[in-house]
Amino acid sequence: MKSEILRTLREAGDNFVSGQVFCEKAGVTRQAVWKNIAWLKENGFVIESVPNKGYKLVSSPPVIYAADIESRLSEDSICRKVKSFDSINSTNIWAKQLAEDGAEEGTLVIAEKQTAGKGRRGRQWESEPGAGVYMSIVLRPGINPVNVPGITLVTALALVSSIKETCNAEPLIKWPNDIVLGGKKICGILTEMSSEMNYINYVVTGIGINANNRHFNKEIEKTATSIYLQTGKEVDRAQLAACTVDSFGAYYRKFEEAKSITPFIEEYNSLLASMDKEVKIFYGMEEDAERTETGRARGINKDGALIVDTKNGTEYVMSGEVSVRGLYGYV
Ligand code: BTN
Repeated sequence: MKSEILRTLREAGDNFVSGQVFCEKAGVTRQAVWKNIAWLKENGFVIESVPNKGYKLVSSPPVIYAADIESRLSEDSICRKVKSFDSINSTNIWAKQLAEDGAEEGTLVIAEKQTAGKGRRGRQWESEPGAGVYMSIVLRPGINPVNVPGITLVTALALVSSIKETCNAEPLIKWPNDIVLGGKKICGILTEMSSEMNYINYVVTGIGINANNRHFNKEIEKTATSIYLQTGKEVDRAQLAACTVDSFGAYYRKFEEAKSITPFIEEYNSLLASMDKEVKIFYGMEEDAERTETGRARGINKDGALIVDTKNGTEYVMSGEVSVRGLYGYV
């Protein structure tokens, strides 16, 4: 009901919407409409009400609410259910639990703050309250488990597209799971899966976006930045989150149908930050890699591997236990 009210108000723009319209749309009483509008006002939505005219949405709060995200999703969105939290340990942990409990594909978990945000390869994800977008999507793809890493790649494409659309910026992809802007990281993706040999129980794709962060801690300040720091413009986090989910849905459906990332290779390579640049591959953890190799990145292949021309021949680097860095910088 709240999301329906917000959607209708947003669609009306500068026009007032009468209480009767909400009653008819949702099949509820005037009292129910008042109650929901009162809740929205109490929670920071500025809604002008004029007798005999109705309601107009003036502004939305800087806090992310499930109803707000739901109201911004497209009609054919992959997401039907949003769960928003003020503070939780990790949206990936919650999404996995919901998936275990039978949550449907597209269920979205989003939080203002994570107390134990997880990064790739056991790292932590710094989750400054209210500054970033921290969310996870439950998926039940009908693909072979070996193709799951492709979901990270299409998530990266969706992020580039939604950031372009909502933030007027031109980010690039740092294979396999980072989005970069101005040579530094603005997003990370963590895809986790529960599967049998040939069957996927569920996949959770976690997305962390540095949206309005003003600073980063010492360990990551050299490589991390935010959309705000790069563009100088405050990001509407709810809009960015909803746009990312919708964009993800479109890429994911096509990926699931093709059961491979083949349809996206060209697009992906055009957005690859290291394309034709020299990179260093770390096999194992970067700090104590068991082997490193340098070469020139040549894009991804149909398996999602990064093609790197080295002096010893061409390597096809699979994501997983590797890191790839620019030879002369992060990208
Ligand atoms: C990485 O770059 O190492 C991946 C970072 C992924 C962070 C996001 S934030 C939302 C979701 N919940 C988590 O605990 N992690 C992911």
